[in-house]
Amino acid sequence: MMWLILIVGAGLAAFLFWWLIIETEGVYLGRWAVVGLYDLYAHRYDRVKQFDEHADLTLITEPILAEIAPRDDPLILDVGTGTGRLPLLMARNGRFRGHVIGLDASGRMLERARRKVQAERFAAYISLLHGDASKLLFPNECFDAVTCLETLEFLPDPRAALAEMIRVLRPGGLLLTTIRIDTRWMPNRTWSQSRMRRELAALGMDKIDFAVWQEDYNQVWAKKAGDSSARGADSLQEILRQSGQVPITGMSRI
Ligand SMILES: C[S@@+](CC[C@H](N)C(=O)[O-])C[C@H]1O[C@@H](n2cnc3c(N)ncnc32)[C@H](O)[C@@H]1O
Repeated sequence: MMWLILIVGAGLAAFLFWWLIIETEGVYLGRWAVVGLYDLYAHRYDRVKQFDEHADLTLITEPILAEIAPRDDPLILDVGTGTGRLPLLMARNGRFRGHVIGLDASGRMLERARRKVQAERFAAYISLLHGDASKLLFPNECFDAVTCLETLEFLPDPRAALAEMIRVLRPGGLLLTTIRIDTRWMPNRTWSQSRMRRELAALGMDKIDFAVWQEDYNQVWAKKAGDSSARGADSLQEILRQSGQVPITGMSRI
């Protein structure tokens, strides 16, 4: 009997460990656990993910540039930038003349991003900021586009974080985010497409569209209702000054 209890207990503990740490990456333990785990795994992140750069260029960079055309110099905020996937993709596209602020709460993920930005000499296109998605220290309506890839479900309150992203987006600005397809193991964190559509509409977004992307994620594209003139990358210095934030790297266009 004792053995049976021990085996069942060990099985339960192993399941809990898998669910809380591996499958849901600490999200039910709090922000400290999520960020701590990303700090811990930062050195392996790119190797594990094995991003398909060609697919990313076709399915992320090109559609963003098409959405903002004829301008090619948007000021973009990438929330949960990780090791700099989106900023680097934009900078590697020869047609991009804008600037991306990559923001993340994990210092070690940002450090990996910083090394790549420096190695590829992209400081004119990319600034990296240590910060939290749920409290963006930027003025209202200052970005032409806000992106947030594979991150929403890891935030303590995805709706509040989305509201923050939309607050800093200019009217008519572009939002690109993602929803995790498999919702089984992350109750209350991952949203269906209809829930995402409802949430975004309630937060003042229109032209909400979904696109097939990767095995685990679909893309969500939307525009902030209204219209306003483009902010452009030239407003970077003023926005950083107003928000009192000092990037880890970048700003060399100033
Ligand atoms: C799955 S990674 C996605 C990284 C990148 N967007 C990509 O597509 O490769 C999730 C990122 O969200 C960041 N993150 C988690 N919680 C955060 C928070 N509260 N504020 C800002 N970033 C956070 C993590 O540190 C991690 O870099």
